Amino acid sequence: MKHGGLSTSPPCPMNLPVRPRRNRKSPAIRDLVRETGLTPGHLIYPLFLQEGGENTPIESLPGCVRWSIDGLVKEAGEAHALGIPAVVIFPRIPDKLKTPDARECFNPKGLIPRAIKALKKAHPGLTVITDVALDPYNSDGHDGLVAKDGRILNDETVEVLCRQALCHARAGADVVAPSDMMDGRVAALRAALDRAGHDGVSILSYTAKYASAYYGPFRGALDSAPKSGDKKTYQMDPANAREAVREARLDEAEGADMLMVKPAGPYLDIITRLRAATPLPIAAYQVSGEYLMIKSAAAAGWLDEAKIIRESLLGIRRAGADMILTYFAKQFALDAAGGGS
Ligand code: PBG
Repeated sequence: MKHGGLSTSPPCPMNLPVRPRRNRKSPAIRDLVRETGLTPGHLIYPLFLQEGGENTPIESLPGCVRWSIDGLVKEAGEAHALGIPAVVIFPRIPDKLKTPDARECFNPKGLIPRAIKALKKAHPGLTVITDVALDPYNSDGHDGLVAKDGRILNDETVEVLCRQALCHARAGADVVAPSDMMDGRVAALRAALDRAGHDGVSILSYTAKYASAYYGPFRGALDSAPKSGDKKTYQMDPANAREAVREARLDEAEGADMLMVKPAGPYLDIITRLRAATPLPIAAYQVSGEYLMIKSAAAAGWLDEAKIIRESLLGIRRAGADMILTYFAKQFALDAAGGGS
């Protein structure tokens, strides 16, 4: 082209004043415009424990271990030192202590209260979260009490859950997390805790917990699968989203401090909906099946494990989760500390 006798080639062939790629042109710019943060401080580390002095690798969850109390204290301490603020603990209860009334769940000398005390003594700054549900203690393997005709009893179960939560609070739990999906349990737990002077103990409610096949490896780890039937009369139908908002409104009104969506990866739309529906903090649980899919593909050499871990967690954060429960917590924190990509 000729302009005033000077020969200039046009600087660019397209007339494009708006070029989003300018905001991706260097690592520095990408750092500045990044919308979502992901640090070990966003993660909660679920840990399994068992009676006795052994630490047993879990076959159905490679990389996870059923810890002794001593092993648990050590593992939690290492995670905490890497910047992970909280753990949630799940017990494997010996068969001989499982009963139809699940009474072991409020035994003050039980495995969980002993573990809480040991954790809080060794790591006072570590937040200890406990699971409130009957399945590890119930010979029927359900989260609630089972009637003779097979129904899961709501109100009777809530009474036992209150005793369980009180047992955890007395032992020093910072947060109780009801995962049972019974109706009205958040209000009942709040009232029971407050009456006993535990108004400082938080409730992290499993608000939208779906009846999911992604829990399979977890049930293998704890030997906690239901002996008969399934969990569809209390856990939510994977087809439903509006119902999650309904559960969230109830939990908020009943006094929950934080809400949870579970599983996480296949339910990102639910996280986003709840984020819009409530000002409460939202947790999401990247469950055992999600973990195992990544672990097994990486073990086969089909995926870059560290990159997939980061991307899967980032997706959950981007959807609106403030915090994520993940079996990858310590591994992620180790990678982050080592400057991994
Ligand atoms: C049970 C409970 C389950 C999980 C956490 N608490 C299993 C279930 O509801 O059957 C699953 C966690 C996972 O799969 O990682 N109260």
